[in-house]
Amino acid sequence: MKLTRRYRFCASHRLDTPALSAEENQRLYGKCNNPYGHGHDYVLDVTVEGAVDGNGQVMDRRALDALVEERVLRQMDHKDLGKDVARLAGVVATTENLARAIRDALVLDWPAGDWPLAARLARVRISETDRNIFELDV
Ligand code: NI
Repeated sequence: MKLTRRYRFCASHRLDTPALSAEENQRLYGKCNNPYGHGHDYVLDVTVEGAVDGNGQVMDRRALDALVEERVLRQMDHKDLGKDVARLAGVVATTENLARAIRDALVLDWPAGDWPLAARLARVRISETDRNIFELDV
């Protein structure tokens, strides 16, 4: 059984890599290279998968919410992703890299096998805009 919980956060980013010149960055990232950055209302879907237990649940939703709040939302909501988020240090704050950073933050010490987090993390999905949606199977 899979359970997906939806979360929302707002953050800003600027796509720019020190490996390229200003002109090359502009060509590669277009308006996302704007020096002032820009914001998104991200929609984060976290999917877990596991057996339904005797209580009829795959996972305690409050435990999952607490984990996402602590590991992701508190770190990223209303932040400059490229400057304020340690897990994105040294990489361009694309939403591809953001999805990987969130996956890494959630799997860290994930206490699989024990209630209330008996299910395993199965997928991280982030909508940056309604046209840009990124999925990472774990
Ligand atoms: Ni953007």
